[in-house]
Amino acid sequence: MYREIVKRQGIWPRGIQRGVFRKSSGISANKDGREYIPCIHCNTFSEIIEGNRAGRGLCNKDSAESPWFLYKIKKIDMQGIITKISGPTVVAGSMHNSKMYNLVYVGEMKLIGEVIRIDGSNATIQVYEETTGLSLGDKVIDTGQPLSIELGPGLLTTIFDGVQRPLEEIAASSSSEGFIPAGVQLPALNRTKKWHFVPLVHSGDLIEEGDLVGTIQETANIIHKVMCPPGLRGIITEIIKGELSVEDTAVTFEDGSGINLVQRWPVRKARPFKKKVISGTPFITGQRIIDTLFPVSTGGSVIIPGGFGTGKTVLEQTLAKFAGTDVIVYVGCGERGNEIADVLTDFPKLRDPYTGRPLMERTVLVVNTSNMPVAAREASIYTGITIGEYYRDMGYNVALLADSISRWAEAMREISGRLEELPGEEGFPMYLASRLAAFYERGGMVECLGKDNRMGSITVCTAISPPGGDFSEPVTQSAMRVTGAMWALDTDLARRRHYPAINWEKSFSLYQLNEWFKDHVADDWIYLKSELLKILQREEELQDIIRLLGPDSLRDQDRVVSEMGRLIRENYLQQSPYSTGDAYCTLEKQYRMLRTFLNIYKTALKELEEGVGIAQIFNEERMILLRDLKNMTEDKIREWRY
Ligand SMILES: Nc1ncnc2c1ncn2[C@@H]1O[C@H](COP(=O)(O)OP(=O)(O)OP(=O)(O)O)[C@@H](O)[C@H]1O
Ligand SMILES: [Mg+2]
Repeated sequence: MYREIVKRQGIWPRGIQRGVFRKSSGISANKDGREYIPCIHCNTFSEIIEGNRAGRGLCNKDSAESPWFLYKIKKIDMQGIITKISGPTVVAGSMHNSKMYNLVYVGEMKLIGEVIRIDGSNATIQVYEETTGLSLGDKVIDTGQPLSIELGPGLLTTIFDGVQRPLEEIAASSSSEGFIPAGVQLPALNRTKKWHFVPLVHSGDLIEEGDLVGTIQETANIIHKVMCPPGLRGIITEIIKGELSVEDTAVTFEDGSGINLVQRWPVRKARPFKKKVISGTPFITGQRIIDTLFPVSTGGSVIIPGGFGTGKTVLEQTLAKFAGTDVIVYVGCGERGNEIADVLTDFPKLRDPYTGRPLMERTVLVVNTSNMPVAAREASIYTGITIGEYYRDMGYNVALLADSISRWAEAMREISGRLEELPGEEGFPMYLASRLAAFYERGGMVECLGKDNRMGSITVCTAISPPGGDFSEPVTQSAMRVTGAMWALDTDLARRRHYPAINWEKSFSLYQLNEWFKDHVADDWIYLKSELLKILQREEELQDIIRLLGPDSLRDQDRVVSEMGRLIRENYLQQSPYSTGDAYCTLEKQYRMLRTFLNIYKTALKELEEGVGIAQIFNEERMILLRDLKNMTEDKIREWRY
């Protein structure tokens, strides 16, 4: 039985924990799927006591009644029983009041699931945990609310699973080492930790959705901005500053509602903003081939398709380390367990190249391994983007890195098959393209809600694993249609150990960033970039001739181009994420390297005209210089006369 609070009567007395009743929803705070309201006597949250006439906020400790809290309660039956189990999907009967995408608890173990189809009183549920052990006739409880996650201080540095359970805390509290016990429920954010809340508002201020009410130093470099949640508005009567835990009400409004440090948000719903804006700044990655040839704008979206073992995971993790955004949300969606283990063991040790602080201080990890049920992949993608939107709303630039979106698409295919839906291309559901589009749509640069006109962005970088490296398959094609750039990983390059294996002929970026590079790096940046591409293209053509007729068939001028192309490929486009001097390349260094390469090329052509021999042109000094450039500092490169 679940109660919906239809109407609140009376007023809130002073000094009582308030603000959990959202006028818009009319439903009380929900912790762990149960309903709680604050006790009118002892100030703590307490579960609604069964049988309490009006659902008053009284905890078990005190049974005295008070005239202030009168809630009219409508009782709704939200229970059903399992009538069919098919892998990760379960059908429950007698679910008369269920709504689409409601969060449900399945079976004795209370496995987490989501209603994905309603047919009369039958609800089909996708279960986010292993369904073995469930049996027909087991109870299913509908929480009456959509799958939501907690947003508040403490998200950064934490590792969650797809339904936002904190993995480290589960590991610490569970006896089954390395496994998540079925049905385990822990709050996502630590309830006991105190945060130092510094208010930015005063009593009497009118606060509307998105307005900043205070700040918390969440990690050394990220200030967590406490915002008025969407849909809430009021005049402040009380502000509490100092040490607060996430459930404490920091700001109280005239009508008794208020703002906690934690807010909940349904993951399938995009968080609102004022308007989308076009950003003219690039998303800097420190990877030469990306920043020079295929830059993406902050708030842009890019796909990284690549066949098996072409370096998608390594590239995503390199971006997680070096991307120049304030916050990183890394979603490991359905990848192999040992890769996720790498992330879990590596990341906490890494340091941010910009600030020298631990990288985790700007990172949220959401991980699902491939042995977790397929349905959980969908949840992890939505959980990741919702956390991203929350930091975007504070005015930060966020990068959402997902590896790999194909695993999510495969999960959709499996669930759709079990629902016996009409299949589209290659068995993927018909709605594959629209689901992907709706996901990428949540990226972008926006003007956030709130009076201060702040801007925030989410840059979405998703790996795609097309079977057989064939980019014509539906996931790559559907994603390519809605994203602005593609860094195509190439099996051939990977086999030759040319990393990152980004194919410069297939990749593209539609973002117009030339002006930015001209203004912020150098006037001749665009010119140098086009010269670089010309050499690479010409080299590719010459390769065909060499393959047919041998290297001796080339004219001297073409030999210079061919040699230069090779040098650029090996020393400019290739870059090792494991090298200390070269893992990250600043734009200034990219520019200096590029200029050195092209100046040597020009000199070579000139010398050739003057009759200098090829061996003399590509002399040892120059070859060593070009090889070593990538490990030099900008200042050192500047010392060279080229
Ligand atoms: N930038 C790189 N530098 C050096 N080695 C690399 C690089 N990228 C990939 N590799 C090598 O290729 C291997 C496979 O890379 P990775 O796991 O990233 O591929 P993937 O595309 O994610 O594969 P899968 O399709 O199986 O997920 C790595 O273990 C590493 O040895
Ligand atoms: Mg991978």
